[in-house]
Amino acid sequence: MSDVTYLKNLLGVHPNFPKKGVTFLDIFPILRNPIAFETLITHLIHHILTNNEIKPDVIVGLDARGFLLGPIISMRLGCSFVPIRKGGKLPGLVEVVKYEKEYGIDEFEIQSDAIKPGQNVIVIDDLIATGGSAHAAGELIKKSGGKTLEYVFIVGLPFLKGHEKLDAKSYWIVEAED
Ligand code: HPA
Repeated sequence: MSDVTYLKNLLGVHPNFPKKGVTFLDIFPILRNPIAFETLITHLIHHILTNNEIKPDVIVGLDARGFLLGPIISMRLGCSFVPIRKGGKLPGLVEVVKYEKEYGIDEFEIQSDAIKPGQNVIVIDDLIATGGSAHAAGELIKKSGGKTLEYVFIVGLPFLKGHEKLDAKSYWIVEAED
């Protein structure tokens, strides 16, 4: 079986969570299994190193599940890990962007000195849906003087066209259907 099929078969599928009409895809069964988790991380490292001319300086992980993937990837690549968090969680000077969610407005923040001007960045999260949070992350990276090389996800919902609003290419391992 291919790595992609193996990982796809392990995703949890939860109809009508967190609300009616939404089918929630859960990555935690992959993390529960060390062989699967190793397969996932090795797949992502291989993807990043074979599809980018430049080695990234920074892996940015998005609140919250991007925090579970980003540090492992950054340590393997020998680069920095930087979190982007919901508003009000990060100490010191921060850059802020507001973005639209299904219900109302949310804030994303990055520490102002976390990315140095000219650094090359890869963004990681578990899933891209409408792309609102990934787009906001791209804005924060731009404000910091960084350049986003790629947005990387485990699961893509390409029928929602979230990737089309991003300022760099994107990649997902598994494609979900509507
Ligand atoms: N899984 C995880 N996060 C999400 C999902 C999902 O299916 N849809 C929107 N955000």
